[in-house]
Amino acid sequence: MTLVHHDPDLAVPAPMLGGIDHLEWWVGNARTFAGFLCSAFGFEAIAYAGPETGRGDRVSHMLQQGGVRFLISGALHPDSPIAAHVQRHGDGIRDVAFLVDDVDSAYDAALARGGTGLRAPVDDTDAHGTIRHAAIATYGDTVHTLLDRSGYDGPFAPQFEPSDLLDPVGPAVGLEKLDHVVGNVELGSLDRWVHFYEQVFGFSQLVHFGDDQISTEYSALMSTVVWNGDSSDPRTTGERVVMPINEPAAGRRKSQIEEYLDFYGAPGVQHIALRTDDIVESVRALRARGVRFMEVPSDYYRSARARMDGISGLAWNTLGELNILVDRDQDGHLLQIFTETITDRPTVFFEIIQREGAKGFGEGNFKALFEAIERGQARRGNL
Ligand code: FE2
Repeated sequence: MTLVHHDPDLAVPAPMLGGIDHLEWWVGNARTFAGFLCSAFGFEAIAYAGPETGRGDRVSHMLQQGGVRFLISGALHPDSPIAAHVQRHGDGIRDVAFLVDDVDSAYDAALARGGTGLRAPVDDTDAHGTIRHAAIATYGDTVHTLLDRSGYDGPFAPQFEPSDLLDPVGPAVGLEKLDHVVGNVELGSLDRWVHFYEQVFGFSQLVHFGDDQISTEYSALMSTVVWNGDSSDPRTTGERVVMPINEPAAGRRKSQIEEYLDFYGAPGVQHIALRTDDIVESVRALRARGVRFMEVPSDYYRSARARMDGISGLAWNTLGELNILVDRDQDGHLLQIFTETITDRPTVFFEIIQREGAKGFGEGNFKALFEAIERGQARRGNL
C-alpha cells in the first residue's frame, strides 16, 4: 500500500477525530463469528443488514458491549472483496472506523497530508437520517473509515434493522470500551508507519519500546504507540485513539510478529484491548463462557509480587487462579490478560485490561507474555 503519494501539505490542520466508532471484521462466516463473540465474550447483537434489508452482496451483524462496537461482515458471492480478503488473510480486522464531525474536511486534510483516499465522501440515507463517510488506506489491506453519524438516529446505519438474534445468555462480562488497537507491520517499516500516523492524522508518539526491552531468549520486537491524546486543539473530542504498532526484530527464532505476518499475509491488526472496571469478574465470566487465555509460567507471580510491592488490595490468589497479569508505572497499576488467538490462523487475539491509574501497556509483562506466545508457536511448529 502506498504510504504517502505526493508532497504532503502539513500546513493543513490534521483531521479531528472523535474516537473509534467501531471495528469491522471481514470473516468467512459472519453468522457464526457473531454468535461466537456473543456466546463467548458476552456481546449483544444490535443490528443486521443483508438481503432481507435490501443489501445483496454481504451480511453484517453489529455487536455491542459497553462502548465497544464490532461490525461482523461476510460475503454472499465469490467475487466479493470480503471473500478475497478472507482468502488472503483469514478472518481479521478490515476497518478501524474513526468518528469525525466533518467528513469532507477530515478526508481532504488526510489527503493533503499525504494519505491515500480509498472512498471519497458519500452519503448513506434512510428514514432515520444520513451517515456521511469516506475511507483512507492504512497498513496492509486495513482501512480507516471516517464517518459522521450526527445526522442519524437508527440502530446503526442505513440498511440496518434491529437484530433478531437471541440475546446473549451467561454471566455478564462487563467490557466497557476499547483501550487500544495494535497493528503488526513488516520488518523495517515501523518508523514509516509511525510517520504515517503523525503526518496524515497528526498523531504523536506516546511511548517507544526497543528490542532490548521486548525480547526473550528466542525473539524480539519493537513497538511504538501513536495516539491523538496530546492534541492541544480544543476540537479534539471523544475517547482518545491509541494505536501501538509492532515490528519484528532479529532473534534466534521466528518472532510472534513474523508468525502473524506469515499467516495474515500482510500487516494488519494483531490485538484489540478491551477495558473493564473489574477484571476478576470479567475473566471469571469469560472463562465460564469457555474463553481460553494464554498461560503464564508458574514463577510469574513471585516476581510480580516483588514488582508490585507497596500496592495494596491485590487479590493474589484470585489473580493467580485466573492467570491475570499485573504491572505498574509512575501513575498507578494495571491488570491485564490475553486470550489465545481467536481466529483459525494464529493472528488476532484480545487483551482484557483494567487500569488503576497506570497509562502503560504492561511493559513489565512483555517477557512473560511473549514466552507464553512462544510456547503456542512451538506447538504449532512455527518457532
Ligand atoms: Fe495491548
